[in-house]
Amino acid sequence: MNVAGPPLPPQPFQFRGEFLDLLDQRELPTRQIWISCRNAAKVHHAIRKMVVRGAPVIGTVAAYGLYLEAKRLAAASRLTWNRLLQVADFLKSARPTAVNLAWAVDRALSALQGKNSATWVETLEAEADRQAQENVRWTLSIARFGASLIPMAATVLTICNTGPLATGGYGTALGAVLYAHWEQKKPQMFACETRPYLQGARLTTWELQQQNVPVTLITDNAAAWTMERKQISLVLVGADRIACNGDTANKVGTLGLAILSRHYGIPFYVVAPLSSFDFHCETGATILVEERDPQEVLYCGRKRIAPDGVSVFNPSFDVTPAAFITGYVTEQGLMVPPFRS
Ligand code: MRU
Repeated sequence: MNVAGPPLPPQPFQFRGEFLDLLDQRELPTRQIWISCRNAAKVHHAIRKMVVRGAPVIGTVAAYGLYLEAKRLAAASRLTWNRLLQVADFLKSARPTAVNLAWAVDRALSALQGKNSATWVETLEAEADRQAQENVRWTLSIARFGASLIPMAATVLTICNTGPLATGGYGTALGAVLYAHWEQKKPQMFACETRPYLQGARLTTWELQQQNVPVTLITDNAAAWTMERKQISLVLVGADRIACNGDTANKVGTLGLAILSRHYGIPFYVVAPLSSFDFHCETGATILVEERDPQEVLYCGRKRIAPDGVSVFNPSFDVTPAAFITGYVTEQGLMVPPFRS
């Protein structure tokens, strides 16, 4: 059944059978460069180096990576179950925090259960295509449910990028705003720039501008004052991993926004697909938070901004306790913890 919704925004990847083309998100918004991948090593590298980023989409891209590698191995008569498991582990290791990555790769492996090995390659291709198509469907549902929480002429604060670039399809938190805009609710966005990778400054503003949604960019450290002065209606964020008790890992800075929202009495929603829920993880205490290269903090663009020898702590994510989260918007609607599969 087709559900009405806004037109599909520009997508972060294109699959062309032999190749997976990725829009290099490091170059946005100034240049639109596509990078072609035809094996797992290239896909792993692209995820690790942030060519493609955002929890849901790195899962889909990894599923295509598994297919491309299986195809290459089969052509060389070297495709075995053990080799496939090694490739799967390699892809899953590209980034540790987003559960969607392991979820997508494991689901691709599960699709092979009981299948003749002669059909593995075509099965993996069909499964990756299925995941990509599902992304479009479930992000549209999420966007619709999320938009129902957005009042007329609301002012929405967000962090990082949770749009189509991060998910394929329509996006999660940003998808909800795009949907509300399509419904003529006239939302306005405040986007945290999201140091050090500047996903908010570079990607969220770009995606919103393309859809003519009014957006104001703020520095991350202006969040409290923005809440004080700009009558923020609600905060919408994405998720990289949600524990059974509702604790949520998302882009570093999310925890601060949640604490501030509590202070100012602003509703704070996590907007994410069910593939972002980790039903093996009881609480946020066991979530592995990725720490990235100190160079990302020491430099702003190509310019070094800190003295030689300074030490750096560069967590890519933080974990927000469930107690600070008003609700969880999924493709099945609004949910509250505890979560069970
Ligand atoms: O480091 P990134 O850019 O992959 O981090 C992305 C985020 O933290 C997003 O908020 C999250 O993946 C949800 S994307 C819908």
